[in-house]
This record gives sequence, structure tokens and C-alpha cells, in this order.
Amino acid sequence: MPIQPEPTVGDTSWFVHDRFGLFIHWGIYALPARHEWVKNRERIPDEVYQKYFDHFDPDLYDPRVWAQEAKYAGMKYTVITTKHHDGFCLWDSAYTDYKAPNTPYGKDVLRPFVEAFRDAGFKIGFYHSLIDWHHPEYPIDGLHPMRDNEEFRKQNAHRDIRKYREYLHNQTRELLTQFGKIHIMWFDFSYSGADWGWSKGKGKEDWDSERLLAMVRELQPGIIVNDRLEIGGDIKTPEQYQPTGWLTVDGKPVVWEACQTMNGSWGYHRDNLDWKSPEMLIQMLIDTVSKGGNMLLNVGPNGRGEFEPKAIERLRAIGDWMRLHNRSIYGCTASDFTPPPDARYTQNGNRLYLHLFAWPYRHVHLPGLAGKIEYAQLLNDASEIRYREIDPNATPQNTQMRGLAGAVTLELPVQKPPVTVPVIEIFLKEGATA
Ligand code: GLC
Repeated sequence: MPIQPEPTVGDTSWFVHDRFGLFIHWGIYALPARHEWVKNRERIPDEVYQKYFDHFDPDLYDPRVWAQEAKYAGMKYTVITTKHHDGFCLWDSAYTDYKAPNTPYGKDVLRPFVEAFRDAGFKIGFYHSLIDWHHPEYPIDGLHPMRDNEEFRKQNAHRDIRKYREYLHNQTRELLTQFGKIHIMWFDFSYSGADWGWSKGKGKEDWDSERLLAMVRELQPGIIVNDRLEIGGDIKTPEQYQPTGWLTVDGKPVVWEACQTMNGSWGYHRDNLDWKSPEMLIQMLIDTVSKGGNMLLNVGPNGRGEFEPKAIERLRAIGDWMRLHNRSIYGCTASDFTPPPDARYTQNGNRLYLHLFAWPYRHVHLPGLAGKIEYAQLLNDASEIRYREIDPNATPQNTQMRGLAGAVTLELPVQKPPVTVPVIEIFLKEGATA
């Protein structure tokens, strides 16, 4: 029996089927184009950061084009930053002037995004920053861009987290009442464990996470909420690493989603040289599903409102692979069978998918599968893959090899099929288990 994760309050039934989503980090940090934490890293005061607000004019922005690219890549849901840590809001919020409609662009950028992606069949998720480096009532702490300015800290000692909390709750209500059905609420992030001596980090008490979460669930029944409010949630969200196995909480497997970047930066990063290859990204998606998780892959659009060519190239390469292989991803989960080296299994009922990260020389031995296979084929072209159970006690001679006890040996073509990661689709006999 494949592992069953702990039940969730939110409806994760579609989520664990769809497996692959698009993360979008977009805001005025696309203009400095050197990471979405630029305001923090370079300790930029509001007056200086203002130039990005004053020049935000994504004239080529067309979310229908984004949705097309994401759809081709095989993504099924999307999560977009409604506000990141710099406090800039993408929608026409009634609670702030610090929003897209007040930039030279002059319009809400969130609403057309929601409409375009929804029309393209995507489920919609909102990332919303708990942290706010612009709000005048957000108490300065060791993560704030103004942390090293003692004068500023003194002048702002009166800041009142209760007022900021009201703002946070009000904006969350706006997001969950003005954009129709929202499937995911992705808060980011709590850091109450941090202590800088003169200030402490912020967490569930500061946000009043219990009340916030109750409101979210009431406004959008069934919504999936992530785990960064410090009070649990529906999904666990490892960031920029591949877990070693199915993620657990208190020893129990849970629903999880790895969020990953293409180049290490979430926001548009012009001079970045850390681009992962398309092959690496495809392998990451497979690896994630082989461990029972989802992958939320990020694109940071630029200041003109476009995906940069390197991102498009990768999405299309993933799409080319997904077009032929998506049935080894959608509806699949971890398998109880142990894969051979350099390979990953995913499984959907009696279909077992063998993903070969390195193309073997003619034979691959699958432990534990003796007597359990009904049929096998290459997934990319539905060509039969023949297999044998070879006597483990045979005396190997010339062309005869010795088998592996309990294993099935697949006979592969010498030529790797012309796909980035070849997949063998194995039809297991009724009732075959590991
Ligand atoms: C982090 C970062 C952030 C990014 C996010 C995505 O917590 O602060 O910039 O948005 O994770 O998971």
C-alpha cells in the first residue's frame, strides 16, 4: 500500500493529484533586478527604494501569455505574491497607497492575473508576506532594512504591531473576498525564534495566527493553507532543497510541496549565473513526486512584465518532457518498490513508472519485481520493453549473465530515447505489492 499522508483540513485532493505548480514572485524589486530581498540586503531606506515604485511600468505585461507558458509546461496551479516583504501590493487594496495602481502603470496587476490563469484552467493561490518592510507600524527588528540605523530605530520605537496586525488581517480579507475562489493561501513567514538582543523575531502572537487562520478558513472553505503561520497548516513547504524522503511531522507523513527556483533567486535577477539545467529541473520534479510531494517552480518576471528567455526556455523544455510523460507525474505518488541506482519510481495504482536518470547499458535490474510484471513499455513512444527473470545461480558464460534473486531484468535499447529523462511504464499484475 502506498503511503497515505495525514488528513488535512483544507481540500488537498486535487493538490496531490496535480503535483506541479507555478510560483510567481513579482513586484517593484524586479527593477533593481538583484533579488527580492534587495531592500533588506542593501539596507535601502524607503526614500531611496521609492524610485522603483516611481518607475514601475510593466508595459508588456500580459498574464495570458504567462498562463500559456505555464500550461505548456504542465503546471496546474499557481501561487502569486500579492505582497512581498517590501510591502508593495499588486492589487488595488483599500488599506494602502503602496500599490500597483499608484505606480506609472496605473492599474491593478493581480486581477488580470487571476482572470487569465483561471480562464486557462489553473487553480489560484495567493502568497502573502507576513513581514512588511514598508508599513509604518511594523516594528523594526533585526531583519528590517533599517536595522543598523540607530537614529531611525529610536524615532520609530513607538511602532505598534497591533495596528500592523489589523492591516494584515484586513488585507487578507480583501484578498479572500474580492477575487472569487482561492485554492491556496501561502503566508510567508514567521521567525519568532530569532533574537538580536535589541529586538526579537515575529511569529504567531504578532500575527494572531489563530484568528487569521480561522478567518481564512471561514472565508474560503476548503482552502489549503501553508505551514508558515507557526501553527501548522495543511502543507509543509521545504524551500530550495530536495528532502531525502517523504516529509513527516511527528513521525507521520504529511502533504508537502517543495518550492524551487530556476536560479536561486525568487525575484527577477538579471546577472544571475546559477541557472539549473532543464534536465535538473525535470529530475527535481520527478524526485519530488517519487517522495510523495508537489513542486512549486518559480518564475520572477521582469520590469517590462515578461518572463525572461532563460525561464521560457526551461518551461518549454519541461513542457516537451511533460507532453510525453505527464502520466508518470499527475495522480502519482511514492512507490513501495525500491528503484535501482540512478532511478526514481512513481506509482499510480498498478502502473509503476521507472525514471532513468542515467541511461544504463542494455540491462536494468529491478529488485523485488519477479513475477509481478504484466507488460512494460517506453512511455515516450509506447514501444515494448522485453524483460526476463534470470537465474541468480546461473554460471555466467560469454553472453549469459547472472541475475539478481527476485529481480526482473529489463532489456533496453542501446540508444537512449530522444527525451530528457526516459521513463519505462510498467503494468503490474493485479494485486502486486512490494
Ligand atoms: C522565503 C523568502 C522569500 C521567498 C520565499 C519563498 O521565506 O523570504 O523571499 O518568497 O521564501 O518560499
